[in-house]
Amino acid sequence: MNIVILAAGQGKRLGLVSPNSLPKVLHSVAGAPMLAHVINAVRAATIDGVANASVNIVIVVGFGAEKVQEAFLGQGDLRFVVQSPQLGTGHAVQQAAPLLNDAMRTLVLYGDVPLIHSSTLQQLLTADGDVALLTVQLSQPTGYGRVVRDRHGNVLRIVEERDATNSERQLTEVNTGILIAPTRNLKTWLGALSNQNAQSEYYLTDIIAQAVAQHCRVVAVECADSEQMLGVNSKSELATVERIAQRRAANELMERGATLADPGRIDVRGRLDVGADVSIDVGCIFEGHVSLADGVRIGAYCVLRDSSIGARTEVLPFSHLTGAIVGAEARIGPYARLRPGAELSDAVHIGNFVEVKASTLGRGSKANHLAYVGDATIGANVNIGAGTITANYDGARKHRTIIGDDVSIGSNAVLVAPVTIGAGATIAGGSTISRNAPEGKLTVARARQATLEGWKRPKKEKKV
Ligand code: UD1
Ligand code: MG
Repeated sequence: MNIVILAAGQGKRLGLVSPNSLPKVLHSVAGAPMLAHVINAVRAATIDGVANASVNIVIVVGFGAEKVQEAFLGQGDLRFVVQSPQLGTGHAVQQAAPLLNDAMRTLVLYGDVPLIHSSTLQQLLTADGDVALLTVQLSQPTGYGRVVRDRHGNVLRIVEERDATNSERQLTEVNTGILIAPTRNLKTWLGALSNQNAQSEYYLTDIIAQAVAQHCRVVAVECADSEQMLGVNSKSELATVERIAQRRAANELMERGATLADPGRIDVRGRLDVGADVSIDVGCIFEGHVSLADGVRIGAYCVLRDSSIGARTEVLPFSHLTGAIVGAEARIGPYARLRPGAELSDAVHIGNFVEVKASTLGRGSKANHLAYVGDATIGANVNIGAGTITANYDGARKHRTIIGDDVSIGSNAVLVAPVTIGAGATIAGGSTISRNAPEGKLTVARARQATLEGWKRPKKEKKV
């Protein structure tokens, strides 16, 4: 199967006028570029349908071509052709023609129609006809190409809005732009296109009339779900498509048994895996790849990116986790911040305004309030008092703090790394620890308190 994805358009209607603008097809929907959604749908459709080994994906790029290619670097099964200047959808497919294998059919898709579902593509792939096009009924078809049929219902041609007569504009069956055709014929038809039309463009849609004239069987596969066909031509359409994608993600989560306080107030920008009985309160954002084990509860307005949370752990409101691994039955937040390399064992408690970075905390350890734990290796059942910080940075290099099991660090301690606190040690509140503290003992490192006998508070002289 040859796949051609059209992605050369500039996206003027998106307000992308500067050459530095992000190309339209790289605008993100649910955390991935629109074009990636189309590619994924194609891959999923062809894996079960046609033998995947013979899928040849060609992407037609134009505006911001380098940026688009860069975004998909390392995906060796994709090939790119540049269309410049952009003379219409037919001209775009023509640029891909030399890369298309005549022995296989060609499926054409648009890079700015990201909600298309693989099952819909499969319907098209299995349709009984030489040429099959995907259509949809729209009560407000303005702007789309209309499908013109004869009185027996056979497809005759597609007419673009701007070339249509008044009566053709009344037609409500529209062309989605997605079609499949025999490649050898397609190449012939593309070669015969003219740009004698309202937009002076080479329309891909004109191949339908040619196919009909040559007695090819043209079938229209009508898709019941018009949402899948939405194209993104403006910021408002981008937002609409994003909401639909989010609603889909929310529905999938609920189908897997997750409880969502409000399926309209969750954003999944990537992949979210959930175990059984997970519950998620409103306003949470999940980015990259996040996994929540059985019974995890996420409080309101948390942001979790590339993190995994163990069974029955609770993340309380307003917590921010990036690149963190949290064990089972832990309690995080409210207002906690876990940064990359934070690895917390089971039953760890991280409380409000505590930041943890590149540190491991053993089972049952706690930092409940106002602390900074960076580049530290912390044993089990350690208690870190409020206001404690690991001074891990000397201005040039980062150093590690090592804390054994059952250590108790008093409030407002500064642990100047590199430093080791032996197991069972107690560090007095307010200490600045710059040398290793031995196991099982109390270490105090602060100025001694003194009370001065005979001291008198100065008094103001009264003016006479
Ligand atoms: C097109 C169809 C119309 C259909 C509608 C569905 C044609 C002539 N019309 O119209 O029948 O109802 O889509 O959304 O095909 N592109 C290129 N190179 C070009 C021009 C466009 O790569 O020279 C790409 C665009 O980036 C976009 C896609 O092709 O991804 C469609 O182009 P667009 O200008 O949006 O076509 P429509 O006018 O919407
Ligand atoms: Mg369009």
